Amino acid sequence: MNYLQDFNWRYATKRYNGQSVPAEKMKNILEAIRLAPTSLGLQPFDVLVIEDPELRNKLAPAIYNQPQVTESAAILVFAAWKNLTAEQVDRYMNNIAATRNIPVATLNDFRKMILGSISGKSPEEIYQWNARQAYIGLGFATAAAAIEKVDTTPMEGFNPAAVNEILELEHKGQTAVAILAIGYRDEEKDMLANAPKVRRPADSFFTVFESETVTG
Ligand SMILES: Cc1cc2nc3c(=O)[nH]c(=O)nc-3n(C[C@H](O)[C@H](O)[C@H](O)COP(=O)(O)O)c2cc1C
Repeated sequence: MNYLQDFNWRYATKRYNGQSVPAEKMKNILEAIRLAPTSLGLQPFDVLVIEDPELRNKLAPAIYNQPQVTESAAILVFAAWKNLTAEQVDRYMNNIAATRNIPVATLNDFRKMILGSISGKSPEEIYQWNARQAYIGLGFATAAAAIEKVDTTPMEGFNPAAVNEILELEHKGQTAVAILAIGYRDEEKDMLANAPKVRRPADSFFTVFESETVTG
């Protein structure tokens, strides 16, 4: 149950001390994002790992000068794909075939099913769908970092258009949907470092249908 202690330890860090994160820990956190489940397994988002202080300084105004951007060790930008093309689906089919050592033709029905579900959606619906997958990655990163005893701040407080422009995301057909600062807390400067966690009580958060309730 140590991970629950880790999840209680973590908090959305407001002030960082600038200390860098060991490469192995960073690698593990990124791997957790890569291993996160996504709808149909499509992984329709990219993650930009930005350690470069100069680039983070440039991005800071677009992220409303939240101090986490420049005081942390790195920021991860979750960039959702704005669309899903047949070419991207085919790349996924080829990846499955190569990874599982099966002929790609055996995936024809799966491919058709994916293309069918895409064609029934508007571009906005596809973008929103993709963005939701990116948030699963954000959640996995936050949890993995806590287990690594690395601090994080999930952030939606930024101007996507300005971030997209600096990172040239639009021409890649992507848009920034969430940012995660990563590093180590500055306990003295951060008022929230030792604040008790505020959460809704479990009895009003969860509705439990016990097995006897269903089977009568
Ligand atoms: C999607 C998302 C967006 C958030 N955006 C910001 C943000 O822009 N700046 C910030 O300081 N905190 C941000 N937070 C942190 C939340 O305020 C924080 O997670 C919440 O108050 C619960 O507190 P805790 O994470 O410290 O337990 C965000 C959290 C999430 C999950």
